[in-house]
Amino acid sequence: MRKNIAAGNWKMNLDLDASVSLAQQISEQSVPAGTAVILGVPFPFLFSCSLHTGTNPNVFLAAQNCNEQESGAYTGEVSLKQLKSVGVDYIIIGHSERREIFNEADELLAKKLTAVLDAGLKCIFCCGEPLSVREANEQSAYVEAQLKNGMFHLTEQQLESVILAYEPIWAIGTGKTASPEQAQEMHAHIRSVLKNKFGAAASEGISILYGGSVKPANAKEIFAKNDVDGGLVGGASLKAETFIPIINSF
Ligand code: PGA
Repeated sequence: MRKNIAAGNWKMNLDLDASVSLAQQISEQSVPAGTAVILGVPFPFLFSCSLHTGTNPNVFLAAQNCNEQESGAYTGEVSLKQLKSVGVDYIIIGHSERREIFNEADELLAKKLTAVLDAGLKCIFCCGEPLSVREANEQSAYVEAQLKNGMFHLTEQQLESVILAYEPIWAIGTGKTASPEQAQEMHAHIRSVLKNKFGAAASEGISILYGGSVKPANAKEIFAKNDVDGGLVGGASLKAETFIPIINSF
């Protein structure tokens, strides 16, 4: 069922000591009832962080990427089995940085999503439009296409293991946040797209996070919107002082 979620995406930041210390500080928090915290940790620090996140039933561990193949000769890649074996609960798929910098197209993301669910893991699936699309006022159709191409092959039951994150690219790392109204409008659109495909129960049950310059000063106002169930947070998730107030913003 729909939950409030504060997810951090550490991206390619922090070293071992800083990661473990942050995971420990967050895991020591008492997370408000009905809220889950997810930490998106760089690959090399996942296991060490799992020793802390594993101590709090409301704090979960996410990897920021995975390979869709089971195993084999894929130098430099990391499999889902490997991630599962170090205590990972979620995989972030389709982040705009993977789509844009690493050319991950819808077709590959759809395969990765299936592989994540087949491995018994959960997914944070990201979507969101670039500035040019927003300026042309074509964001609704753009995001709808991302959902269709990336996740419409799932069953209603599989959808229960998916969290969606709407992240307008123009708001990521720019300090420029979508207004709470812009976020609500897109989240309601996403929910109606999901309702048409998967039915009312599935679309009401899925958590949809907003991402893009979420910080302690704006989290409450954004999370208060009806169809916003939390945030996927980059910069402000790198320090306990800024991430803990976001966890407490519901
Ligand atoms: P930001 O990043 O909070 O630093 O804008 C969000 C994200 O990319 O998930």
